[in-house]
Amino acid sequence: MTASLKLGNHLKLGNHVVNPPVVLAPMAGITNVAFRRLCREQGGGVYVCEMITTRALVERIPKTLKMIAFAEDEGFRSLQLYGVDPDVTAAAVRMIGEDGLADHVDLNFGCPVPKVTRRGGGSALPWRRRLFGRIVSQAVAAAKPFGIPLTIKMRKGIDDDHLTYVEAGLAAQEAGVAAVALHARTAEQRYSGKADWDAIATLKQALDVPVLGNGDIWEGSDALRMVEHTGVDGVVVGRGCLGRPWLFADLEAAFTQGAGYRPVLPTLGEVAKIMSRHAELLVDALGDEKHGCADYRKHVAWYLKGFPVGSDLRRRLAMISSLAELDDLLGLLDPSVPFPADALGQPRGRVNAPGKVSLPYGWLDSRDDESVPEGAETDESGG
Ligand SMILES: Cc1cc2nc3c(=O)[nH]c(=O)nc-3n(C[C@H](O)[C@H](O)[C@H](O)COP(=O)(O)O)c2cc1C
Repeated sequence: MTASLKLGNHLKLGNHVVNPPVVLAPMAGITNVAFRRLCREQGGGVYVCEMITTRALVERIPKTLKMIAFAEDEGFRSLQLYGVDPDVTAAAVRMIGEDGLADHVDLNFGCPVPKVTRRGGGSALPWRRRLFGRIVSQAVAAAKPFGIPLTIKMRKGIDDDHLTYVEAGLAAQEAGVAAVALHARTAEQRYSGKADWDAIATLKQALDVPVLGNGDIWEGSDALRMVEHTGVDGVVVGRGCLGRPWLFADLEAAFTQGAGYRPVLPTLGEVAKIMSRHAELLVDALGDEKHGCADYRKHVAWYLKGFPVGSDLRRRLAMISSLAELDDLLGLLDPSVPFPADALGQPRGRVNAPGKVSLPYGWLDSRDDESVPEGAETDESGG
């Protein structure tokens, strides 16, 4: 299968055509309405909201309800849920349908955070195959009357000795999901090493429903390579767009023009304009300059990675408390500096070391136990 062969095919989630076949990965603390808008202004695709926990949603916790914010022009509102209880997950999906909160629901089975796996949630859950199957099938059944396509996102498994992705993918397909996304790492790997694109190819061969590949797409050319290597129907992009929302323009160019496409490489002046826009959108989304600027600061280092900008200016930019201050500081950058070639194709964001996965006592010996793990729904998030 070559990338060019795939270029004419369009990914569908329910009735929605995803063109180009690109998904912004849900990222807690990042993919809020402001960041999604910034990315949507660059190119087409599906842009997933930050993860929402099912229990907090059905209990209508105000902070959780506030996180479900979509812009008026967000045509296909995509929301990720995290749940461990089939009934609560189904109730959450039903509420999304009844209240018209979103047009697409994704279920998170990829979170490797110890606080979550220690209680049997996130990436630990597919190991409990019956419980996993019940969560997915009840969620699909709850979504169906509303015409909401339901997808899942998972990892390869707990570790190399406890892989679940093919079995879980088949079970999800049997349950009626619209697509399956694989972040091709185990929970033990967290964000270390390289994503195993061979595993994505294996899953693609095993399933009839669309498969989305996730892991280590840093440039549009990586997306084409992944499609070529695995035959996937679409790509899910996370860390690569941190401080680089124009990656979605790059991905669109890659998918429309194919391997010979011209990469999108903004100058420092163009990056500064996007940085300013991002801050404006955040202030707007979070209601005031204090909260917007505070949330913005973590993005500064990602935007400037690889550019020749002095440490003092970087530090001051990462401490801004008003839009006027940001614009003054951005005015000190040399707009003509070209995009640094050595920042291309490089990992960014989380790259932490592997670590043994904390699991509830006896978890690995009880695959068919269907009981709902206690206390596994926390505010903790990640994938
Ligand atoms: C800051 C951060 C937050 C994340 N939060 C979530 C999340 O809430 N739900 C989820 O499924 N994955 C989450 N992930 C994982 C990403 O969606 C994605 O699977 C992972 O980063 C691998 O893709 P990448 O190599 O393109 O970054 C998160 C990742 C990062 C870096």
